[in-house]
Amino acid sequence: MLSGKRILLIIGGGIAAYKTLELIRLLRRDGAAVTPVMTRAAQEFVTPLSVSALAGEKVYTDLFDLTDEAEMGHIQLSRVADLVVVAPATADMMAKMSGGHADDLASTLLMATDTPVMIAPAMNVRMWEHPATQRNLTVLHMDGIRVIGPDDGDMACGEYGPGRMSEPAAILRAVQAVLGDGPLKGKRVLVTSGPTHEPIDPVRYIANRSSGRQGTAIAEALRNLGADVTFVTGPADAPRPQGLRVIEVETAVQMREAALAALPADAAVFTAAVADWRVARPSDQKIKKSPDGQPLLDFVENPDILAEVAQLRGGRPALVVGFAAETQDVEANATAKRARKGCDWLVANDVSPATGIMGGTENAVVLVTADGAETWERMAKAEVARRLAHRIADALAPGA
Ligand code: CTP
Repeated sequence: MLSGKRILLIIGGGIAAYKTLELIRLLRRDGAAVTPVMTRAAQEFVTPLSVSALAGEKVYTDLFDLTDEAEMGHIQLSRVADLVVVAPATADMMAKMSGGHADDLASTLLMATDTPVMIAPAMNVRMWEHPATQRNLTVLHMDGIRVIGPDDGDMACGEYGPGRMSEPAAILRAVQAVLGDGPLKGKRVLVTSGPTHEPIDPVRYIANRSSGRQGTAIAEALRNLGADVTFVTGPADAPRPQGLRVIEVETAVQMREAALAALPADAAVFTAAVADWRVARPSDQKIKKSPDGQPLLDFVENPDILAEVAQLRGGRPALVVGFAAETQDVEANATAKRARKGCDWLVANDVSPATGIMGGTENAVVLVTADGAETWERMAKAEVARRLAHRIADALAPGA
């Protein structure tokens, strides 16, 4: 699947570097060529000899190695690959990347490259959860860096939690998703997902029961077909999808901004359960109980992101897909909603409590297009996602 592709693999200094040896083996078995780069710290964990033996290539370590510069300058080295993978990406490496530092070979290559970059973070759980690392992560997401992991689990330092580097097989799948030749290769797709939280005061908000599972599954299915996915999510329970660009937002207004910033796109899929209204003037202070009675909240309508994108005059995605949560007359309501919003397709699901769909793992949908309505049998949300992604691929790249 990866034959003819070259990965520039930057190995950072963490105990997880031993797993990177297995990653090199998997990448090569799948047909990729691997150009390894090691930081000074990485060489404390695994030897350049093991890395070059597995990669079958020279290991690059020094920025000022005259032989390297004579053979291949660092700028050229940063451009040889189809994808740059950083595994493990330490807290320090993430900080350097988000700050734009270039003080060794690895960080200089990351600054100089014009190819997509994927990082597989690995560090102690406290370091992962530290506000500085989380801030850096947000910056890296905004810079379009793809992030895989970290996973939860027992760590070499004896603690438990998020911070383990993703397994080499999972990193390989993420690489395949970026470089593989799926029918949606080269297509940009925006997916919105999850609920929005609309603040009432600093501690309270209005939300809904959306878990984000259907949107996450759709983003993953599109990624698996090779799409370049931007996933804009509200505060959802579902674990974030891997190997694609994730933008986390809280409110409908923020979701609109992030969605518009993700355009142009070839397709946009709006699975988010966006709050229709927000509190007009959220209180700066926690609202206290008062003998004068209950607080009165004024609401204003939120922007309808789907309708706005579907009705864009310039830069409208070729395919705009909306979702609708209905509790009765699903087909009729969905058909009317498709027309009202101006989207091409509308996927409606019956969320009446008896179905257990909202927050559950299954879905039963009706797909309304210009050709009419199709009722799909009840199936796992992942299967709905897979079918929908294939339909999107057929629409965007017929016969691919
Ligand atoms: N949507 C949006 N922005 C909003 C509201 C909804 O993008 N402010 C999108 C959702 O992501 C979804 C579709 O519009 O794709 C759902 O539309 P909506 O009219 O909110 O659906 P329901 O809540 O099902 O509608 P109704 O209020 O008619 O029950």
